[in-house]
Amino acid sequence: MTGVSLPESDGSVRSRDGALVCDGVWKIFQRGRRIVRALSDVSLEVRRGEFVCLVGSSGSGKSTLLNLLGALDLPTKGEIYGLGLRYRDLGNEQCNRFRRTNIGFVFQELRLINHLTATENVMLPRLFEGHIKSELMNTAVGLLGQVDLGERVDHFPYELSYGEQQRVAIARAVVTKPKIVLADEPTANLDNKNTERVISILHSLRASGTTFVVATHDDRLSRAADRVVEIAGGVLQHSG
Ligand SMILES: Nc1ncnc2c1ncn2[C@@H]1O[C@H](COP(=O)(O)OP(=O)(O)O)[C@@H](O)[C@H]1O
Ligand SMILES: [Mg+2]
Repeated sequence: MTGVSLPESDGSVRSRDGALVCDGVWKIFQRGRRIVRALSDVSLEVRRGEFVCLVGSSGSGKSTLLNLLGALDLPTKGEIYGLGLRYRDLGNEQCNRFRRTNIGFVFQELRLINHLTATENVMLPRLFEGHIKSELMNTAVGLLGQVDLGERVDHFPYELSYGEQQRVAIARAVVTKPKIVLADEPTANLDNKNTERVISILHSLRASGTTFVVATHDDRLSRAADRVVEIAGGVLQHSG
């Protein structure tokens, strides 16, 4: 597909049973003659229940990797496994279902719906499930309470500060009780107080055994992780 030849994986990933596994993953973006190697031979295993921070400067490939881990996109070469399933083997419908059931996203640009209240935004990922709406609403309100927004449940995103919107996005990401949460720079543009809040929210969610992969260049956040994985120019550096 790319005219770029990519070496074989060295097979450094041995188990595919982790929460998330990348095995020799390359992501090449190509338009015409312009080629960007966003990820080069990335192998990584995230254990179930682990909280991994992916750090690296802007343009290093963090969002690209999160998108692949979340089955929003497929690698150019190599394989991604989520909860033991190889994403490449999933059809569209299966893939959507896998994502809906198992993965919560906190997008960097949040993607809240402006004409829905905080509660309705949080309910959204589960509306199609055909629940009794009042029960779902109670769940959403409860989650908003957990992220310290109990007083703002009826507010629209444009009535909330960025830090508050960030917490709505986190509540929405976990409303399905996903096994895996992927968050793209969830503390970018937050002050210390809101950053501490986000960190304590992530910690309390971990108690339920959720696996987290969080892209960040915020030391305050990466200090809270079980493991920090560094990426530079699309290449994994080391993990510690
Ligand atoms: N859809 C795309 N088309 C072309 N290049 C892309 C695309 N998405 C990302 N890139 C490039 O891939 C590299 C990694 O981007 P990204 O994963 O967004 O980095 P980060 O999230 O670490 O800032 C950058 O050079 C970026 O310009
Ligand atoms: Mg990014």
